[in-house]
Amino acid sequence: MFDDLKEYALINHIPIIKDEGLSFLLLNIKKYNIKDVLEVGSAIGYSALNMASLGAKVTTIERNLDMYNEAINNISKYNFQDKIEVVYMDALSYTPNKLYDLIFIDAAKAQNQKFFLRFTPFLKVGGIVIIDNLNFHGLIDEIDDIKSKNLRSMLKKIKAFREWLIDNSDYKSEIIDVGDGMSISIKLK
Ligand SMILES: C[S@@+](CC[C@H](N)C(=O)[O-])C[C@H]1O[C@@H](n2cnc3c(N)ncnc32)[C@H](O)[C@@H]1O
Repeated sequence: MFDDLKEYALINHIPIIKDEGLSFLLLNIKKYNIKDVLEVGSAIGYSALNMASLGAKVTTIERNLDMYNEAINNISKYNFQDKIEVVYMDALSYTPNKLYDLIFIDAAKAQNQKFFLRFTPFLKVGGIVIIDNLNFHGLIDEIDDIKSKNLRSMLKKIKAFREWLIDNSDYKSEIIDVGDGMSISIKLK
């Protein structure tokens, strides 16, 4: 759904979730009967609209004003204002005021662990966390060949986060080779 937004994102080089990753996300929303979603990283509202179209209520956080405004416009255009709340803020300053069934993290890739630690206290036991881009365009296995120091440093952070996540015994986690590499973690206690 929302193919016009997908096309707009493509033309304007706005990173949005890949088709395969979106199918994985939506499949899990159905499988776990997700009602309340917290999304970190709205961009133009494409993934939020897709999740809300399954009936979930979505709180989505965006720190870039242009992206925030585009998300607000797209959500009004499709008349999903009562299903999606867009919060204009750096996610690392936002404190939720309710518990969620799903946290979808799709923002600054070097900050995954910070987002995970900040928001999982607001995840119900049995709830899930899904994170996108854990293969980072297939570069995660080529760290030593990367010339750019900044990119290398980010890839190292993503790699360390993957290991930290798998070792975290409060969650049952898997990293799946779907889309750009996605994790799914179930909160055990
Ligand atoms: C990959 S895009 C999100 C795509 C969107 N989830 C989708 O698939 O339609 C990442 C977005 O996260 C936002 N972002 C990055 N770090 C953030 C932060 N600390 N707080 C809030 N938003 C952030 C960026 O401005 C960008 O718009």
